[in-house]
Amino acid sequence: MKYIAIIGGSGLENPDILEDSKRIDVETPYGEPSSDFLTGKINGVDVVILSRHGREHTIPPTQVNNRANIWAIKELGCTHILSTTACGSLREEIKRGELVVPNQFIDFTRRRPVTFFEKFKPGKMKHTPMADPFDEDLRARLLQSAGKLDIKAHDGGTVITIEGPRFSTRAESKMFQIWGADIINMSIAPEVILANELGIPYATVAMATDYDSWKTDETPVSWEEILKVFNQNVQNVTSLLTKAIALI
Ligand code: ADE
Repeated sequence: MKYIAIIGGSGLENPDILEDSKRIDVETPYGEPSSDFLTGKINGVDVVILSRHGREHTIPPTQVNNRANIWAIKELGCTHILSTTACGSLREEIKRGELVVPNQFIDFTRRRPVTFFEKFKPGKMKHTPMADPFDEDLRARLLQSAGKLDIKAHDGGTVITIEGPRFSTRAESKMFQIWGADIINMSIAPEVILANELGIPYATVAMATDYDSWKTDETPVSWEEILKVFNQNVQNVTSLLTKAIALI
């Protein structure tokens, strides 16, 4: 039985897209998740939707309780996680409004709990492999759905997650390019890390909303720009997820 958790949720928070929707609260040893869970069915498949930044978008990236979010998803018995995120593009060829399904991350966060395993018991070490952190089957379903819907989605790429909430300087933005990052955001790490620690397959759809700060012939990223581009294209993300859920 598949049971799919969706994290991010902008555009998917409307209870009308779910059949038999209801809201549930989950408590965890790590405190409260970012929001209650909206549960129901999409295309006949059981899903739960969590708003990473809270239903009113009041939780800044550093304060997102990733451990509570992922723990609660595990507790609910979810079998897969699909997430959505806005991102800056660090490459000319990744244009505003286009989607990216990354296959690698660089964790440049500094002030977030990054593991469930802060203490080891004798003989019980936990060092989670992280070479390929995004689930290949889920990625394939997302890309297949994009193809069927004729939505431009880049296959693979490295997302760098910064601490935020500020955006990057031009120097940082150029450094991230040299490091091999293709897109930049403030939320995929440590979310994907924690999902891997609990063995839940995870993939994300990132929408490029801006060119961060590296591009001199463009105005540098602003929150207003992100919102505008995201809202203009959010229907693509919703359609993509809805289709992918049926294919998993
Ligand atoms: N989210 C969307 N665009 C971003 C950027 N340029 N930097 C960090 N997070 C982002």
